[in-house]
Amino acid sequence: MQYNRMPIEIEAPEEKGYSTIKYNLAESSMRDIRLKDLDVDLKNLVLFYGEHRGIVKLREAIIENSNILSVDDVLVTGGAAMALFIVSSSMLGPNDHLVVIRPNYGTNLETPRALNCQMSIIDLKFEDNFEINIEAIKKEIKSHTKLISITNPHNPTGKLFEERTLRELILLAEEHDCFLLVDETYRELNFQTELKPYLAEHSDRVISVSSVSKSYGAPGIRIGWIINHNKKLMGDFLAAKEQISLCNSVIDEEIAFYLLNNRAQFIVPNHAHIHVNFKYLKQWFGQQSFLEWVEPQAGVVCFPRLKAGIQPDTERFYETLHQQYATIVGPGHWFERDKGYMRIGFGYPSLPELKQGLENLEACFKANTK
Ligand SMILES: Cc1ncc(COP(=O)(O)O)c(C=O)c1O
Repeated sequence: MQYNRMPIEIEAPEEKGYSTIKYNLAESSMRDIRLKDLDVDLKNLVLFYGEHRGIVKLREAIIENSNILSVDDVLVTGGAAMALFIVSSSMLGPNDHLVVIRPNYGTNLETPRALNCQMSIIDLKFEDNFEINIEAIKKEIKSHTKLISITNPHNPTGKLFEERTLRELILLAEEHDCFLLVDETYRELNFQTELKPYLAEHSDRVISVSSVSKSYGAPGIRIGWIINHNKKLMGDFLAAKEQISLCNSVIDEEIAFYLLNNRAQFIVPNHAHIHVNFKYLKQWFGQQSFLEWVEPQAGVVCFPRLKAGIQPDTERFYETLHQQYATIVGPGHWFERDKGYMRIGFGYPSLPELKQGLENLEACFKANTK
């Protein structure tokens, strides 16, 4: 298989070097936490092979609020990234077809491409408020369609798709004997609405994926999961995981358990921080003149674009923003869009960092626009 490195990874802050960035508005997560701030004792942990599906107490914590799901419906993986790779590589090949809503997390496009899977890509449009067009999906479904792939809450738009839309997607999957893959990595960043159950609760035809990376600020422990109620499919996913890594790091699992078992300690202050930053961001969008946006509903990112008629040299703009202003955002090409779009992350920075970062963005625009 031929894998291609994705621009979002090549140009990621950790690849650019964190020391070159002061105002990081490119992240889609909360600020990273430190091990010393967690009351977790790892000294007596036995460093054996962990249970292949994931340690039971962690799987219990993942489905804590569900009366429908059981621990057998959960497979712990090395982050949502591995979960998505497992799903694609187990379900898709050159004779299979995938409908993928774009923008989508890179892996949801790049792995199927590496697998030579047949794909119909449906782009979310700014003009449609980034809503999913169900009719467009219907037209693309074929007899060999295996998956419909979406992200909800959505990255990079911050869209939270309506219940009605999700129900229609589930119906489509059920009618056409295929599966709906829902990347729910941003699920717990629902700072304006109540927490919804995993979509996989609603149908055997739904595969939910999530992780502790974004909501808990713990991407370094590489813990994510797949949830699905179909025994055969979960067996296939386990077989794939065993090929990749057998089990997870038992240290990572122990820390992830601590996070989920103490949810409120992390999620409550995180939501409070997002509220404060979001309020400022909204105010800023109202007073600047070069970007237009679809206001995000969940998560910590938005995906504005340049207003008509504003045409900076985008290449130079992003470079200057980084080099001269020590500020970064996520340029549109990370999401297979033109560079007039950009992802702005408002959960990772402190409020002073967000304010300065946005000020820098504006100054850099003025300096690079004729
Ligand atoms: C939508 C989405 N899915 C999955 C991932 C991968 O997350 P993880 O760190 O859990 O592998 C990301 C990371 O940016 C993401 O944005």
